[in-house]
Amino acid sequence: MCGIVGCVGLPKAVGVVLDGLASLEYRGYDSAGAAWPEGGRIALVRAAGRVADLRNLLGGRAGLDVETAIGHTRWATHGAPVEKNAHPQVSADGRIAVVHNGIIDNFVKLRGELEDAGIVFNSDTDTEAIANLVAREYAGDLVRAVETALPLLDGTFALGVMAADQPGLVVGARRGSPLAVGIGVGFHLLASDAVPIIPHTRRVVFLGDDQVAVVAPGACEIREKGVPIDWACTEVTWSADAARKGGYDHFMLKEIHEQPIVLENMFRDRLRLPPASDSDPEFIFPEMEFSADYFKGISRIVLLAQGTAYHACMVGRNMIERVARVPTYPEYAADFRYRDPILDPSVLVIAVTQSGETMDTLHAVRLARESGCKVLALVNAVGSSIAREADAVFYLNCGPEIGVASTKAFTAMIAGLYFLALRMGQIRETVDRQEIRRRVNDLLGIGHRLEAVLALDQKIRRIARKYKDAANFLFLGRGTGWPLAMEGALKLKEVSYIHAEGYDAAEMKHGPIALVDENMPVFFIALGGRRYDKIVGNIHEVRARKGRIIALASHGDKAISKIADDVVRIRAESGIMNSICCAVPLQLLAYHVAVLRGSDVDKPKNLAKSVTVE
Ligand code: AGP
Repeated sequence: MCGIVGCVGLPKAVGVVLDGLASLEYRGYDSAGAAWPEGGRIALVRAAGRVADLRNLLGGRAGLDVETAIGHTRWATHGAPVEKNAHPQVSADGRIAVVHNGIIDNFVKLRGELEDAGIVFNSDTDTEAIANLVAREYAGDLVRAVETALPLLDGTFALGVMAADQPGLVVGARRGSPLAVGIGVGFHLLASDAVPIIPHTRRVVFLGDDQVAVVAPGACEIREKGVPIDWACTEVTWSADAARKGGYDHFMLKEIHEQPIVLENMFRDRLRLPPASDSDPEFIFPEMEFSADYFKGISRIVLLAQGTAYHACMVGRNMIERVARVPTYPEYAADFRYRDPILDPSVLVIAVTQSGETMDTLHAVRLARESGCKVLALVNAVGSSIAREADAVFYLNCGPEIGVASTKAFTAMIAGLYFLALRMGQIRETVDRQEIRRRVNDLLGIGHRLEAVLALDQKIRRIARKYKDAANFLFLGRGTGWPLAMEGALKLKEVSYIHAEGYDAAEMKHGPIALVDENMPVFFIALGGRRYDKIVGNIHEVRARKGRIIALASHGDKAISKIADDVVRIRAESGIMNSICCAVPLQLLAYHVAVLRGSDVDKPKNLAKSVTVE
């Protein structure tokens, strides 16, 4: 997810673009750049790092007397976050500059064709192919060149395009990624959302898919299929803060609701399930060259993480052992690194981390590599320290996770570990073709299934209101319900400041049940499965001691209503579905309790988004 801004008709347009980019950094912040027409060519300034770094690099040029500029703040998906991969990307002939938010699935093919025609590329990005495609078609009519190039693109895009010899003109286009047009008097703006626009005008047109916006200082044309269409403005009344959160009250809630699209996007260009039932699913691993023989030779797997990422590893362990039959050990990195662990080159170490900067996980990775192990990083932040030091990476591609409480990264980590389990099971032939197809089909369908679970939001808010004043909470589950219980407890703790503990329900009688009385709410993950009867037994034990019971149960389970005070129902299915679908009610419960208790949900006290200290 990146942020783009374009401006025509406002004085000091470079400064306007910079301010707009700063307000879009919640969409991405690993590199940034700006471009403007100058003397018949394109002036271009880009920086790895934040928009502030770009501003420093630009210096006085931010105040240049230019009225046309485009800019970009990046969340890398293709190519490390270094200057050459920052946007704007400029065509080889220097005539066309492009800023882009989205993913072009067929950019390798397009780049090959352009290179065969003699075009020299300078970056690793998919966006550079767009700039050169438009340049190839450009003969003075920028709109026609853009509209000729767009149908060649597979994937998603929000674009701002500028030509060196046409100051005063920017062309925007969108498919799958948002693009807004600010309608001013004598000026116009393009931006990924309304945030950069509303300081200048609240009249906004939100482009539809495959629409093109042509903006000049005194004119705006919206086009579809090559012809102008009628359009109408929206009067945006949002505050800038509300616009940043896409209309949600907090980033945490926005990111909980982003999970369906995150999980949908995650495998879009990594997993193919051919329709023929006798064909094998295709796993596409562009960032990892571990050979099939290597995977066959693994003796065991160590999963390194902290916090929420560790809980994802606990779920991942069950899936890897069940599908790939490789002994798998989740480890708190902070303990692992000081324990003089037993390692050898047959051990695969997987570091699981949203930020890629957790210091304990980074040091544990270094220890593993010094011991001769290969390290795979399952990481969200492209180009982060752990991503750079690992032997291979599997990017979660969640987009920036701004809320300190990790939500979308957690479910993406589970899905990523499941993807690896399936790939290893396929290579090691521990799972037959039909079962792997069924499981792949489940994985591809998760995003859609989560939509149904998100519909529980108001029901969970009502439950949150009932229990918001509890002093303590217990979360209990069995099997993969156990790490989910731990994650539910962590979520509640870190955003609502209620003391909460997550346990394997089997552990209850070994101590925690001493805590149960009429003041103790106990959240049971009771979705059925081999241990369902056992967890029902645990519910009875809590009930006998007057504990207050919230049960997460499947739609078909009518009996549980007789023994639980509150029941949240979801459609129970396969293991991976349950593991991911259970996460959402837990996240929503923590969120709503926190809001009802007046916590600073996105920035809870004492916490940081990334623990870069030991
Ligand atoms: C999650 O809600 C917490 N904020 C925290 O436990 C986090 O998961 C942990 O610090 C690990 O962070 P990482 O995934 O960036 O390595």
